[in-house]
Amino acid sequence: MADATPAGSESRPALSLGDRRVDALNHAAALVAHAWHDFDEARAEETYPSTALQSVLREPLPEEPGDVLADLDLAAAVLDASLAQSRPRYLAYIGSSGLEVGALADLLAHSYDINLALDARAATQLENQAIGWLSGFLGFPATAGSFTSGGTISNITALAAARERALPGTRTSGMTHRAAAMYCSAEAHYSITRAAELLGIGRDNVRAIPTDHRRRMSVVALEKQLQADTAAGITPIAVVATAGTTLTGAVDPLGEIADTCASFGTWVHVDGAYGLPAAAARTSADLFAGLERVDSLSVDAHKWMFVPKACSAVLVRSAADLATAFSHNEAYIPHEHDELNAVDVTLEYSRPFRALKLWLALRVHGAQAFRDAIEGNLRQANLLYELASAHADFETQPYAPQLSIVPIRHVPAGCPDSDRHNEALCRAMQHDGRVYISPAIIDGRTWLRPCFTNFRTTEEDVRVTMHVAEEIGTGICGDH
Ligand SMILES: Cc1ncc(COP(=O)(O)O)c(C=O)c1O
Repeated sequence: MADATPAGSESRPALSLGDRRVDALNHAAALVAHAWHDFDEARAEETYPSTALQSVLREPLPEEPGDVLADLDLAAAVLDASLAQSRPRYLAYIGSSGLEVGALADLLAHSYDINLALDARAATQLENQAIGWLSGFLGFPATAGSFTSGGTISNITALAAARERALPGTRTSGMTHRAAAMYCSAEAHYSITRAAELLGIGRDNVRAIPTDHRRRMSVVALEKQLQADTAAGITPIAVVATAGTTLTGAVDPLGEIADTCASFGTWVHVDGAYGLPAAAARTSADLFAGLERVDSLSVDAHKWMFVPKACSAVLVRSAADLATAFSHNEAYIPHEHDELNAVDVTLEYSRPFRALKLWLALRVHGAQAFRDAIEGNLRQANLLYELASAHADFETQPYAPQLSIVPIRHVPAGCPDSDRHNEALCRAMQHDGRVYISPAIIDGRTWLRPCFTNFRTTEEDVRVTMHVAEEIGTGICGDH
């Protein structure tokens, strides 16, 4: 059979959009512009996937090409019928906000698809510059760092470096029954336990240090535990201070922890995945005093620096610590002139160009706009705390929020089981769709736990949250 392709004239690759490129881009741009416009104001109610959309989502693997414009419409319909953290009244968990410039940077970055494992020229320089900017923004003297997929990987990266410093040679020979421990507050994020599991330290060797009346790590208890362990021949790998706990936003006393660890020679890592950007805001900066003396930190730009997921960073005081834990020599990536490859300071090999979205966002908006947006979220948290504290049917924590998480409970008279009531209230609010919040268990009780990390949220949204909680809560009070 004759070859249909004339010699020397290959047809264009089937996976290119070819002459539909411009149409596809314009169409995608219109969909994105519509979404951004939609995010400016809260929706009156959430939308759910239509029956037609659900049947599309059950279709088998397509073998034949579709129509790019129609398929882009479908993709947008799926996103529109999903819970989007970009919306101003999405106050659940710790949200991100899909910053517009960040989304544009992702489109550019994914189009060029740079390989960041080795020196990628300008992109590698930009990564280093963005690490430097972040270090200046937070007030931590980093000499190296890298962008990762999230706080979980940033924490594991820093703790791998801490392990190698505390027990040199562990990456070569393994833990070989060496007794070691890690320390964090009883309210640290689960990723710290996970790091201990993966690094061979073992979850049983994570010391959950009790917290004080404001849910911050007790430094007295930490010191006692470090003394007991070192006396027993157990090597402390690292103390992890949390700068913004996931449950209530408590910030551990970084300066006191740094002082204590200095006397034991122990690495201090700050898990600031959620809260660290508030170190740059005037109102909250004092909470982070001592940050400049720690060994490493994690911060998620995809949380309180508003850029789209995923964009976390791990920063270290000494670049050598990362290289000691991660560098290696492989025949397929030879080192040039004894210089480290980017992959010598990271856990990941292939990784997207995450730095670009933070870099572009900081260039386009300027650092002050980020500080202002964080201050706005802090004010919203305080407003909710004041409104709920002043309301006879609501209960709050005994102190004002340290950051932007504000646990509240609806406790009207005549509603005997307040835990069941608040659980039901949270689910009813999610179903109602005007405000989306998540529940949390604090000291065995069920709370509503709004968290303000979205630059689109306004004080009006805070008032609406109170109004909706009261209205729905009062309506369902007799139901259980
Ligand atoms: C304090 C803290 N550390 C770590 C993480 C994990 O971050 P990621 O989800 O980006 O892996 C979170 C997530 O909320 C967190 O709040």
